[in-house]
Amino acid sequence: MSNTETFKIIAMDGGAAVGKSSTSKGLAERLNLMHVDTGAHYRTLTHALLQTGADPAKPETIPSALTRLELGTTLQGRSAKLSVNGTVPADADIRSPEVNAAVSTFAALPSLRSFLFEYQRGQSAIARDRAYAGLIMEGRDIGSVIFPDADHRFFLYADEATRTARRAKEGQTDSIAARDQMDSNRKTAPLVCPEGAIQIDTTPLTLEEVIETITRLIQPA
Ligand code: C5P
Repeated sequence: MSNTETFKIIAMDGGAAVGKSSTSKGLAERLNLMHVDTGAHYRTLTHALLQTGADPAKPETIPSALTRLELGTTLQGRSAKLSVNGTVPADADIRSPEVNAAVSTFAALPSLRSFLFEYQRGQSAIARDRAYAGLIMEGRDIGSVIFPDADHRFFLYADEATRTARRAKEGQTDSIAARDQMDSNRKTAPLVCPEGAIQIDTTPLTLEEVIETITRLIQPA
């Protein structure tokens, strides 16, 4: 059966460690969606650029560095991953303390964001071609910039102590508050709650409860 008429795009935005990835992956499983983590896109490019010695303090050097990076998509389970020059970097490499510290600086560069724009929009065609029921894309600007026309927009948040505890449990060194501050205050595509998005406080909820709440909003009984 064709999915053209029923295909849904779900935008999942929010700050660092609010539960976007676990929630999006769980929803993808439950609702037969293709999952895309755009935070991983910025991390992958940051990792690749750091390896070439690129310096975000010299933004004029970034566009030429980007022309040497060829982007591709590899499906791992339901998650579509960004490959650079034919390789998907290991999770440990894109979640290292070095990448955590640099990613928000690179992500604030307009050249880097426009480099990813078409690629990210194009993920919906890949999900349709592969006969998924829809696409769930998580990030900071999905409902505001990448898919302002999404069928459903959600904005997750949680208190800082809960977020820090979640990252610590994952064994990560990450300055969540500093990244959020940079992401919220940058000029291009800042972290915002998109207009009309449904806001969900994940602080008091288990992962299953968040997934259940959103499933009911997407598919009312
Ligand atoms: O989601 P995650 O914490 O892995 O994202 C890493 C960083 O990538 C964010 O702190 C932000 O600087 C950047 N990002 C972004 N826009 C997105 C997704 C992530 O600027 N849509």
